[in-house]
Amino acid sequence: MQTPSGHLVEPALGARLVVLASGGGSNLAALLAAHEDPAYGARVVGVVSDKPGAGALDLARQAGIPSVVVAPSDFADRDAWNDGVREAVEVFRPDWVVLAGFMRILAPSFLDRFRGRVVNTHPALLPSFPGAHGVRDALAYGVRVTGCTVHVVDDGVDTGPIIAQTAVPVLDDDDEGTLHERIKVAERALLVETVGRAAREGLRVEGRQAVVGA
Ligand code: GRF
Repeated sequence: MQTPSGHLVEPALGARLVVLASGGGSNLAALLAAHEDPAYGARVVGVVSDKPGAGALDLARQAGIPSVVVAPSDFADRDAWNDGVREAVEVFRPDWVVLAGFMRILAPSFLDRFRGRVVNTHPALLPSFPGAHGVRDALAYGVRVTGCTVHVVDDGVDTGPIIAQTAVPVLDDDDEGTLHERIKVAERALLVETVGRAAREGLRVEGRQAVVGA
């Protein structure tokens, strides 16, 4: 349902989640663990990756979840690849599309297709440190607190309305690896909780405000 300044995603019983991942897939693993409980209210029904060797694909196979690789090198150009991702996701008829460590930008045509129902997890407290190196950039800046953000995806890079955030301290002896691992512990919990609540209770976006259960 569209409203003049935003949109409402209604609660969905047994919401269908499609997870897009480029990496090892620890966020996917957390969602797969959560969906074992019927009370979670959402199930991962498909996994899509741009990387044929992504660990996330192994996790999907082990869990018996269908997975698809949509590698940019198999497409003539970016638009064709974007259409390929859209078609791969559409097949699973998702209620929500979860970008969990998906390291590519999706074109507006993808977002239009799943408007308001695409969420991303980012390893920094947005709007600080957007982009592919959020952990490295926060460390280089010298912040003492960083964290993770789950947000609705819009046409910008990590600019969409923020649904939930968790703060994580930066320790004196942190390097990018140790800090990222600490953030990822918080990130997995936040992603599981936020996606589950959005699925069970719905999500209203009005301008920059994204409110679960409104
Ligand atoms: C997460 O920190 C995500 O926010 C970032 O890459 C990491 C992916 O981790 N973009 P994983 O593949 O889910 O383990």
